[in-house]
Amino acid sequence: MDKFVIKGGRRLTGEVSISGAKNAAVAILPAVILSDEPCVIENVPSISDVVISLRILEEMGAEVTPAGHDAYRIDPTKITKCCVPYETARKMRASYYFLGALLGKFNKARVSMPGGCPLGDRPIDQHLKAFTALGADYTLSQGMIDLKASKLTGNQIFFDVVTVGATMNAMLAAVKAEGLTVIENAAKEPHIVDLANFLNSMGANIMGAGTDVIKIRGVKHLHGTTYAVIPDQIEAGTFMVAIAATKGDAIIKNVIPKHLESITKKLEKIGVNIEQFDDSIRVWVDSPLVKTNIKTAPHPGFPTDMQSQIAALLTLAEGTSIITENIWDQRFGYVDELRRMGADITVNGKVALIEGTGKLMGAPVKACDLRAGAALIIAGLAASGITEIEDIYHIERGYDCMEGKLRALGADIEKVSVPDKPAAKEAKKSSVNRAADNHQPAAAAAV
Ligand code: EPZ
Repeated sequence: MDKFVIKGGRRLTGEVSISGAKNAAVAILPAVILSDEPCVIENVPSISDVVISLRILEEMGAEVTPAGHDAYRIDPTKITKCCVPYETARKMRASYYFLGALLGKFNKARVSMPGGCPLGDRPIDQHLKAFTALGADYTLSQGMIDLKASKLTGNQIFFDVVTVGATMNAMLAAVKAEGLTVIENAAKEPHIVDLANFLNSMGANIMGAGTDVIKIRGVKHLHGTTYAVIPDQIEAGTFMVAIAATKGDAIIKNVIPKHLESITKKLEKIGVNIEQFDDSIRVWVDSPLVKTNIKTAPHPGFPTDMQSQIAALLTLAEGTSIITENIWDQRFGYVDELRRMGADITVNGKVALIEGTGKLMGAPVKACDLRAGAALIIAGLAASGITEIEDIYHIERGYDCMEGKLRALGADIEKVSVPDKPAAKEAKKSSVNRAADNHQPAAAAAV
């Protein structure tokens, strides 16, 4: 198992460039299945969720070949299988996008119930609502979801909750359905718009992505395309917070400032200076950080995927901050680990009360999910002394070479391999070859 070892107290300065968006890439790669010709996808982040997605495509029979830096040529015309097995699908949440893509292309799909970060209850009822509205039948047995449709017909889909995943899956299943599909109460995240733009670049007819009503007119044929994934809003936000936590001064390149608005506004309230340029921002701190209150919400609200990171920053701010997590039941897993570093945080249900102590001390800690891991890195960078972070595979699912980018900004962070403890070795074996550690698709391995 690998761990990060961080010697805190170094200011982050200089420049960092943001990679492609994880939550866009993991939807766009399955969406290639819908094309009748090869596609080239650019600005793909080197993260384990992408490795798994590419491997699933290869296992189905698609041809995946590198096409330059962070780019892949994918030929879906050779796909022969419409199934995503348990041992692969369980490794990430986004495996459920293969449901929508396979159903949209072949009128059938068989995918294991998805995995992903342990954030509490993560139902898929709204995904199934969308698929059945379009004419599919589903069965759930032995942890597998089976979808079948004699044909897919456009329909009205009104989501009971705002859901990124189900909005994406509804688009994937509807792009070739006969007639008009109207998705209401749709999610509006940047990665929703990115998927719609990708599908339209293949000849789909999708209007309204980014608003809460998306209209899709089914088309018979989707052609090949070359498409670049948008920059990662959450990676950019994570670096904004890390620079602020170390009282640094740095430029974050390859961003879309508009996507960062809610994060920028909150950081400015905390006392962080942010200057925006066309595709970059400067972040610096020249005064004490002050408390603020955060309520997570669907886009354009404050992203739940930034909640852990900003909590780490607020432990350094003067005063009492309140964080309300409105999306996930259990997204405070990082709190116990921050407490080990001297943070004073009280959690009651959806609300965390943070007494800013102004300082943190290095300690051995564990990442329990992707963004919790990011929060611990931020805390370790700001803390005095050494912080060792275990279970960093969570972090590597969603951040492209985090330690390399931080080192380039002046951080003292190393990735260290430690021999698996017997229990951990068993756990690793039972996780059936975690794709990112043991198996990589030929293409990705060549990167
Ligand atoms: C996506 O998860 C992201 N993952 C998550 O990011 C992110 O936290 C989440 O959207 C919210 O923005 C990917 O894109 C791979 P949802 P998803 O469907 O699609 C409820 C990260 O850190 N719901 O928008 O699973 C659900 O319980 C990860 O990058 C239903 O009730 O989230 C939740 O309360 C973590 N029924 C709310 O909707 C459903 O059928 C939002 O979930 C689906 C969702």
